[in-house]
Amino acid sequence: RTVAVILAGGTGTRLGLGIPKQLLKIAGKPIIEHTLAVFESAPEIDEIIVLMASGHVGEAQEIVDKAGFRKVGKVIEGGESRNETTRIALDAVGEGDCNILFHDAVRPLVSHRIVRECVNALWTYSAVDVAIPSADTIIQVDEEECITDIPVRSSLRRGQTPQAFRSGTIREAYRLAEGDPHFAATDDCGVVLHYLPGTPIKVIDGSDENIKVTHPVDVHLADKLFQLAAARVPRLADHRSYREELTGRTVVVFGG
Ligand code: CTP
Repeated sequence: RTVAVILAGGTGTRLGLGIPKQLLKIAGKPIIEHTLAVFESAPEIDEIIVLMASGHVGEAQEIVDKAGFRKVGKVIEGGESRNETTRIALDAVGEGDCNILFHDAVRPLVSHRIVRECVNALWTYSAVDVAIPSADTIIQVDEEECITDIPVRSSLRRGQTPQAFRSGTIREAYRLAEGDPHFAATDDCGVVLHYLPGTPIKVIDGSDENIKVTHPVDVHLADKLFQLAAARVPRLADHRSYREELTGRTVVVFGG
């Protein structure tokens, strides 16, 4: 059994719209509906659990009912922090061994390829992350905003979601974290890395398009990406007219 947990317990303070950003409409649908549609239609996923921000569970349930998502078993309230939301989700998944994929509700452009590769990797690994290389140099700073380190870029990645686990591994990591008064993490692979050191966490390729809607500009980007997807553009960089638009001339297209 493979369960997808959709993390929608946040309120989107950085976007600052006064509603949780997962309810914002992009390309005619609430962001969370786009996200749910990917998991609903992914053959590897058997069940979906939605963890929604306090006060908005009814709205999320309504979206699920209207769209007719049959795999969604539960729509329940999330927690104060992302990790608290994960903890609630682990209880909601119930007993028994299964695969669990945690995905940010606000990454509506996740692909079936990514979901499939996460689930396939769980045959070999008990924890899986999704990431992309960083085009920007990543610098580390101190409290005064002065550089303390510039790690080698080739060994750095930008983490996305889903993050996928065998249930035993993520449950054990959270059980150990519960006993730690200094517990602080923003993502679930971080909990495994810290509390179950030595557990290999496989990283599979994410996608530039799998953006997390975080700042106002991301709303425009996501909208544009949905337009391109609707026009059945296979991949942004391979698209002939996009390249012509960029170069101002006809280009030779290899496999585009
Ligand atoms: N999330 C969650 N429970 C929380 C906080 C966040 O399930 N208590 C989810 C968000 O709904 C989102 C994902 O985790 O889908 C990534 O978090 P982030 O982008 O930080 O979302 P918000 O917390 O909503 O945004 P902000 O930090 O700007 O308030």
